[in-house]
Amino acid sequence: MHSPDVTAVFDLPDEAATQCLGAELAQALQPGLVIYLEGDLGAGKTTLARAMIRALGYSGPVKSPTYALVEVYVVSSLYLYHFDFYRFESPEEFLDAGFGEYFNDASVCLVEWPDKAAGCVPAPDLRILLRHAGGARVAELAAISERGASCVRTTASIRAVGSSCATPAAR
Ligand SMILES: Nc1ncnc2c1ncn2[C@@H]1O[C@H](COP(=O)(O)OP(=O)(O)O)[C@@H](O)[C@H]1O
Ligand SMILES: [Mg+2]
Repeated sequence: MHSPDVTAVFDLPDEAATQCLGAELAQALQPGLVIYLEGDLGAGKTTLARAMIRALGYSGPVKSPTYALVEVYVVSSLYLYHFDFYRFESPEEFLDAGFGEYFNDASVCLVEWPDKAAGCVPAPDLRILLRHAGGARVAELAAISERGASCVRTTASIRAVGSSCATPAAR
């Protein structure tokens, strides 16, 4: 597939900044999007997903799907599935669980540890890599499809306006 080559890098100095990016991404979601959330344990994948789900208007608890493998949300007229494949011993567990049908044009899928389901989980529209940077984090967004590119562009323009969430004053 042709890569649209749309990327963005955001510094996330603290947890509030990760939550802010989640709120911005939430405004850029559209049905059909598959987003891989990559990075080490503790990098902030669940924090980012939780912020997206909350920004969509979900007020209940947003649990990490580490044990359940998937948490399902119907919010803001979106079907949102939050997966975590960390505990998979083989990628075929994805097929055995019947998760393939969750990936369709009506749903948004957020996927932690997609590499644990490599070859079975559908390709992403957008990859978000979270990296530790000292005590802070850096998020690298890389669009894989045109739908993902649109999400990155929208997020970047919302971020440029800078009013979508409270950020600490610059020092
Ligand atoms: N930008 C940030 N800077 C510092 N700490 C952060 C930042 N974003 C999130 N955190 C913290 O890092 C941890 C991330 O945990 P979690 O989101 O569960 O990670 P993962 O799902 O990648 O394993 C949480 O303790 C959270 O408070
Ligand atoms: Mg997690």
